[in-house]
Amino acid sequence: MKGMSTRRIAVIPGDGIGPEIMDATLAVIESTGFSAEWVYLDAGLSAIEKGKAAVPPETIETIRELGLAIKGPTTTPSSGGHSSANVQLRKALDLFANVRPARTLPGVVGPFDDKKIDIIIIRENTEDLYAGIEYQPHPDVAQAIKVITRPGCQRLCEYGFDLAKRQGRKRVTAVHKANIMKLTDGMFLEEFWKAASHHPDLIADEIIVDNCCMQLVIKPERFDVLVTENLYGDIVSDLCAGLVGGLGLAPGANIGVNCAVFEAVHGSAPDIAGKGIANPTALVFSAVLMLHHIGEHEKAQRIMIAVLRVCAEGKILTGDLGGYATTKEYTAEVIRQMDGLAAAV
Ligand code: NAI
Ligand code: MG
Repeated sequence: MKGMSTRRIAVIPGDGIGPEIMDATLAVIESTGFSAEWVYLDAGLSAIEKGKAAVPPETIETIRELGLAIKGPTTTPSSGGHSSANVQLRKALDLFANVRPARTLPGVVGPFDDKKIDIIIIRENTEDLYAGIEYQPHPDVAQAIKVITRPGCQRLCEYGFDLAKRQGRKRVTAVHKANIMKLTDGMFLEEFWKAASHHPDLIADEIIVDNCCMQLVIKPERFDVLVTENLYGDIVSDLCAGLVGGLGLAPGANIGVNCAVFEAVHGSAPDIAGKGIANPTALVFSAVLMLHHIGEHEKAQRIMIAVLRVCAEGKILTGDLGGYATTKEYTAEVIRQMDGLAAAV
């Protein structure tokens, strides 16, 4: 369906398993009857291989113009090489809040199958050590600067409490290391407690990041919404993904003032790229977050129910969840379940 009413959404397939899981995800979205014009854009290693920058200017401009993007993972080499396309994108578009839900799914056995985990991590996305300010004052000394700003902490913490309220959550926990990083994390905590005072209906508390990691492993059900800086959020969100069945299931949303980019928590998984066996669910769930974000709640819910059914049945799953299905077989099964749902409505 072409015409003025067709929504245009930016698509960055990315690197490694990115294109495979993106094809799967767009097929799932389209099978709900949602129609959009997908505007394909380059970023990451694949952009560099085409002789472009890791994040070409037209990629930034188009996302800014459309306000909405779905993104596959992009490869960033360790040590040397280009700087992370993600960090560049998040900074250029000022996508300050990275929202990462981690929920146990029926039928998916994590390391703690007796626990019901339902955590949302809200990670600051533009500051901290990810400012990428590193230098070497001496051949044997390398330094990095951790940048924390008051407005950055303020908007992130306010966003965290607002989201908690909107989603009917009860508790918001600040994750920090202010006992050591007294100025930077201290400022984060100050702004957290200011935001908390604006939301007396929500329980607020704070926890030091290392203790938080231990508590997440032994008592994950005690956590609800976690608000944290960039580095802690990066690490804690992979930990939470591990608690609920792995990276193949963990979605994310990068939220800015004027635009949003939806992507999985996981990376480009070079070890399984090109084999057709990646689990597309994390990106599919990211698409669910995107559909909710634009008010398409019914279609979002239908996808969610279909995926939950496929996981609960446990017959057609990808390798990371202990199954033998290819990405395409799994995707076809999700779409089949969804068609059944549409017929039942
Ligand atoms: P990774 O998340 O790509 O992979 C970690 C492990 O999880 C691997 O064994 C991989 O096979 C598995 N895995 C990840 N996603 C999966 C999926 N959908 N289905 C099945 N198995 C899956 O992390 P790694 O190896 O540390 O990073 C690889 C590259 O990805 C690096 O260049 C890194 O910079 C980049 N990266 C990109 C991100 C992004 O674009 N948002 C996020 C994290 C890493
Ligand atoms: Mg990460």
